[in-house]
Amino acid sequence: MAITLDCGEESISHAAKSLLEGHLVAFPTETVYGLGADATDEIAVRQIYAVKSRPNNHPLIVHISSVELIDFWAVDLPKYALDLARNYWPGPMTLILKKHSHVSSLISGGQENIGLRIPNNECALQLLRTFENLGGIGVVAPSANKFGSVSPTSSEDVEQELGHLLGKDDLVLNGGQCKLGIESTIVNCLGTKPKILRPGFITENMIEKIIEIARDENQSKNVIKHPGDFKNHYAPKTPVYLNSVASSGDGLIALETVETPENVVRLSSPKSLEEFASNLYKSFRKADQIKLTRIVVILTDQNPIADAIRDRVFKASIKN
Ligand code: TXA
Ligand code: MG
Repeated sequence: MAITLDCGEESISHAAKSLLEGHLVAFPTETVYGLGADATDEIAVRQIYAVKSRPNNHPLIVHISSVELIDFWAVDLPKYALDLARNYWPGPMTLILKKHSHVSSLISGGQENIGLRIPNNECALQLLRTFENLGGIGVVAPSANKFGSVSPTSSEDVEQELGHLLGKDDLVLNGGQCKLGIESTIVNCLGTKPKILRPGFITENMIEKIIEIARDENQSKNVIKHPGDFKNHYAPKTPVYLNSVASSGDGLIALETVETPENVVRLSSPKSLEEFASNLYKSFRKADQIKLTRIVVILTDQNPIADAIRDRVFKASIKN
């Protein structure tokens, strides 16, 4: 059972040392909570796969605090990748780059590529900076949930998901509720043009301010594993239905303008799509706790944030 700490200076310092000693530290980011380990410590990285029950051909994102560290992890960067990094980091964007030959293929799931990100969350950045000041070079951090399950957006979610699986020297940093609530945009930067592999808050339009996006499907063929390959992602235990009719015993997630039918439990009534995203996973968890029959999500808007939310809801609904 891990200890939960706040994000004060002392806790961060303790957490950075723990990472260097090979322990796991779950920490908040602006998207979701990550389960962190020293990316250069094979035993700690293996422990991440074990705790999450994650297949080890499923690559991990390395979190860093500064653009200067890219060169340790990746080679042959296209110019546009650096432009994206300089414009949108720290932020909810992961870049897939060609990995440096010295980087363990354990992190990259056996591929020649590496995912990198600078998160935009003060607690995460302080942790990464302190870790790097002590000699660390990067922290692998998948979302702090069991493989295929819903990403945690609070430290309580992490405790509930993984608390019983973490060791007594592992830590959870409590930085409150995550601001965005859905995972980073993943951008494949291996081709002459970038390609979005997972939509998020860094949108197509934002990327196209820097460089045109690849529309040709073949561009990303050299990426073997990516979020779209796995079907039962982001799924609560309660079956999820997108744009279906909610009936008695179901839970409903929809913008506040949508009415709640009789005997349906309103899980969330966000005023905006931003609020929709930040409450989504919490509402999924609540439905599991109160054992609803189904979760119905109504989302018909057509814009990049709605598309990113729909991507998660659609993947959560695939089993049904
Ligand atoms: O917002 C986020 O990205 C959060 C926070 C903690 O940073 N992290 C996160 O990690 O969502 P994870 O492991 O739960 O999801 C990362 C996704 C996985 O589906 C993985 O397949 C993909 O990114 N990925 C990571 N490295 C990759 C690589 N080298 N090539 C292709 N896909 C990669
Ligand atoms: Mg995940």
